[in-house]
Amino acid sequence: MTENKPTHSAIPAYPTPFYYYDTKLLQATLHTISTEAVKHKGFHVHYAVKANANPTLLRMIQEAGLGADCVSGGEIKASIAAGFKPSQIVYAGVGKNDWEINLGLDQDIFCFNVESLPELEVINQLAACKSKIAHIALRINPNIGAHTHSNIVTGLAENKFGIAMHDMHDLIERATKMKNVKLIGLHFHIGSQILDMTDFIKLCKRINELQDQLAEHGITLEHINVGGGLGIDYEHPQAHSIPDFKTYFDTFDTHLKHYPQQQIHFELGRSVVGQCGSLITRVLYVKKGTNKQFVIVDAGMTELIRPALYHATHHIENLNSTMEEETYDVVGPICESSDVFAKDIQLNKTQRGDLLAIRSAGAYGEIMASGYNCRELPKSYFTND
Ligand code: LLP
Repeated sequence: MTENKPTHSAIPAYPTPFYYYDTKLLQATLHTISTEAVKHKGFHVHYAVKANANPTLLRMIQEAGLGADCVSGGEIKASIAAGFKPSQIVYAGVGKNDWEINLGLDQDIFCFNVESLPELEVINQLAACKSKIAHIALRINPNIGAHTHSNIVTGLAENKFGIAMHDMHDLIERATKMKNVKLIGLHFHIGSQILDMTDFIKLCKRINELQDQLAEHGITLEHINVGGGLGIDYEHPQAHSIPDFKTYFDTFDTHLKHYPQQQIHFELGRSVVGQCGSLITRVLYVKKGTNKQFVIVDAGMTELIRPALYHATHHIENLNSTMEEETYDVVGPICESSDVFAKDIQLNKTQRGDLLAIRSAGAYGEIMASGYNCRELPKSYFTND
């Protein structure tokens, strides 16, 4: 297992804060994904670009043979710039703009994952204007909850995503009659940071029910896209630096009924890049509050918003100190009370100037950075040691 632990001496003296990516770990992760996926006939992974669109990482992911799962015209452009072929690109999203649909049509992308009837009609119209036939899949909302943070559950009836199950037959009928779309599959995605395989088993069962209904109408679709969502171990990043892809793919192989010739697509984001990135930040001040010790660092929610937005845990290490541990709150400089990376954690005694590594920040870290408080976007550096 690759160590994801840059020591202080190994980290070049770049201005902080910055993202530091372990490309050796990414390569090892990609190798595991490819090895485990090919064991199952017809399994294919599209990388969810939303997790991290850093061009260096995207290029490595493309070279490893994964496709790209995009949610915007910008992501389609970034994927093509990184070398993905349009035939490897799927495009989902509840609010596709006309220019974005036109971009997908001009590029002849592999598939639009359609999330509503009005969107289906617009894609059909825009494709007609170009005398093209758009390949589409219907994204079905399977009304399945996942054991994860409520902000990253997507597959419940109350969520904005996908087409209600009871509308599926109607939309299939309409799509079949449209001249400029070709229905090639169904798409699902129940949420993110899912570690409990029973959530995926529930999804498989729901897909099986829907496929049985379609079979009764004589319909078998070529592609079933089960989305992404496999979680990572934020608490013990070193111990589990490569997620358990074997169990994940085996779960679908065992529980998802798939027909001969049918392709099963996955859209993994977090589990591909999460563990390979650390946010490196410098301690500005250590301050004693009334009943707390605060470590104030130069990174904030502007660089990594996950703790503020989802109360997410990220393991934090002091890269300089080996002194006895003390209890601290690690906070950023942003003028928001939610600008907190961790509360009441144990760190080796910390002083001004120390470097801290905030682990497992490769997914939904750099890509969600903002310029709030007129701050500069973080830079990124790479190591393959
Ligand atoms: N496919 C679809 C349709 C999605 O909406 C997502 C993630 C994925 C695939 C990839 O899911 P993953 O394998 O990465 O779990 N910013 C949040 C996560 C938002 C996920 C959005 N959709 C976080 O930092 O936890």
